[in-house]
Amino acid sequence: MEDLKSFLIEKVLLFESDTLSSDTEKVLGQVRREKPAQPVVYLSSGTSSLIAGSARTYSAIENYISENALEAKLISVGCTGPANFEPLVCVHIPGKNKLFFRNITEEKVEPLLNGVFHNDINEDDLAGQTGTKGFELWPGIPFMDEHPFFSNQKRVVLGNCGCYDPESIEEYIARGGYRSYVKAIRHYTYDEVCDIIEKSGLRGRSGGGYLTGLKWKHALNTNANARYLICNAKESDPGAFTDRTILESDPHRLLEGIAIGAYAIGASNAIIFIRSGSDHARNRLQRAIDSAREFGLFGHDIFSSGYNLDIVIKKEPGAFVCGEETALINTLEGKRGMPQLKPPYPTTAGLFGKPTVINNVETLMNVPLIMQNGPEWFRSLGTENSPGTKVFAVAGKGRMSGVVEVEMGTSIRTILEDIADGIREGKDFKAIQLGGASGSFITSEHLDLTIDFDELRENGIGMGAGGFVIIDENTCMVDLVRYYMEFIRNESCGKCIPCREGTGRMLEILESVIRKPLNEESGTTLERFKGVMQLETIASVMKDTSLCGLGQTAPNPFMSALKNFRDEFEEHIFDRKCRANICRGLRSFSIDVEKCTGCTACASKCPVNAIYGTRLQPFFIVEDKCIGCGICFDICKFSAITVK
Ligand SMILES: Cc1cc2nc3c(=O)[nH]c(=O)nc-3n(C[C@H](O)[C@H](O)[C@H](O)COP(=O)(O)O)c2cc1C
Ligand code: SF4
Ligand code: SF4
Repeated sequence: MEDLKSFLIEKVLLFESDTLSSDTEKVLGQVRREKPAQPVVYLSSGTSSLIAGSARTYSAIENYISENALEAKLISVGCTGPANFEPLVCVHIPGKNKLFFRNITEEKVEPLLNGVFHNDINEDDLAGQTGTKGFELWPGIPFMDEHPFFSNQKRVVLGNCGCYDPESIEEYIARGGYRSYVKAIRHYTYDEVCDIIEKSGLRGRSGGGYLTGLKWKHALNTNANARYLICNAKESDPGAFTDRTILESDPHRLLEGIAIGAYAIGASNAIIFIRSGSDHARNRLQRAIDSAREFGLFGHDIFSSGYNLDIVIKKEPGAFVCGEETALINTLEGKRGMPQLKPPYPTTAGLFGKPTVINNVETLMNVPLIMQNGPEWFRSLGTENSPGTKVFAVAGKGRMSGVVEVEMGTSIRTILEDIADGIREGKDFKAIQLGGASGSFITSEHLDLTIDFDELRENGIGMGAGGFVIIDENTCMVDLVRYYMEFIRNESCGKCIPCREGTGRMLEILESVIRKPLNEESGTTLERFKGVMQLETIASVMKDTSLCGLGQTAPNPFMSALKNFRDEFEEHIFDRKCRANICRGLRSFSIDVEKCTGCTACASKCPVNAIYGTRLQPFFIVEDKCIGCGICFDICKFSAITVK
């Protein structure tokens, strides 16, 4: 190992020419296991895989290898993307293409490996094969990259995810890693690095789309005796998991991006502000930092360049608002995580009053690639004003879900219909929620819009950090908006009145819409309708007067739902009807006397004793007492209970 370490440092990282010698390439090919002499089994090991049982799959594969005395290697890799396929297993038999198998739980391991090693493959579990030049094809097996989930993606930021062992710095270096960083600190000035990133047109991927190179230059050009770079890995929107996937699958590229960014602004200290609860990601990242330090990549006078760098991880305290940059800085300074008025911007007076750059994980992941391939390469991807790609966490009611990456300029329809393969269980499409808790809804009329900061903004839609939640016809939009509003109300830091009181009032009004009033007197329906109209006024005041982005964007889901699904709001208010049968407060149940067997199950479980009857005779529900909880509906084995 020590030999390999010195080899990688001397012959790769410090090698002056861009073209490595053929002998070096040969060794790097071995580290990458390109042409293994023995079988290699790769197992995905990110959080989604662990939830699907990959830890048990790992043990089962390990046991299989030892019990059969096989000369085979087992390697944990990161997440390849499709959550439906977890745990994903890839088997590489020497000389042949790699085979991918999906949903390999522990009990499937033995038959699967018996099949592969004896040329009798179970096609049910197959996801596909790679098509690598010089390797033997498995006849009749489709190529993995032709699967619509992958063929419509452009995997640049995620290029390493699922391909290498995230705990092996050797493998990362063998894949070209850390060379751009070492080259930058030894041969480029701070300005030159800022220039390259500015020329590439990279825009911040947290949603705002501010030019990264310009932000770096502001910090660099502010006079100070210390500067900081902070990687914002807070990611706490409901349904967001792109950053966590990246941290777990390719921590070294993120570290390289942070290191280049820190150098570009002349910072010797960088901080990764990580979401609490992401322990798996944090542990991997810490191991990556430790091994990079051992390789001399961080520390004092790195490779005699005169540059010093230290990277530390700080766990966030668990509040959504702490992702906002000024609140984040307050947190790191040991204060309450409350946002502050801007200006001054962090690039002028940030952490401990020093110039500070805060960048999102995905933004920084692009940096090593731009340094390696040049700004023109980056500009050749995507659209004119939004170059590059964008990573999304596709969740909700699509047939396929997971982490995906598309070239900017790809239509929303492509993500929905091709990558996510449409809606599950033959249901109709209703909307897509882009951009987390304060994002907007995209309806069928907007599906041909493309992923581009400006095009989306012109249509009143924010790009968001990466949430792409697919909503089907069975979702109640009023209830969904209430859910987001409850989340935001709970997360408001309460510093400014419009946000603190506005989110509370908005939630109150939405809750009154999804509840049937105990006594409906004349005029109360109208009052509720007036309440909803009042929401528009509250929303515009919050937008104009709240201090930070949380309060300013909190009304977005409501405003967007009211615009696109007004009929559902009206139905809830005037007809007291929830067409999706989701809003408990509006549901009422009745018993079909023809189907009821009088088994008593419903009556015994009803929490408010609203069901009466005599055993073995049809039962009935007293409507005035029923609270619409639906316990009876779920429990009846005879489908005798209907909802209206
Ligand atoms: C309430 C709130 C929460 C935020 N949460 C995050 C977050 O989790 N991650 C993130 O990168 N940016 C978040 N931001 C944006 C950051 O303040 C900041 O603009 C961003 O990290 C800059 O990165 P970029 O320039 O690379 O896009 C949040 C903003 C607000 C208003
Ligand atoms: S807008 Fe809301 S979250 Fe932001 S500072 Fe004001 S009260 Fe706090
Ligand atoms: S559970 Fe169904 S069948 Fe049994 S008493 Fe209730 S309605 Fe009738």
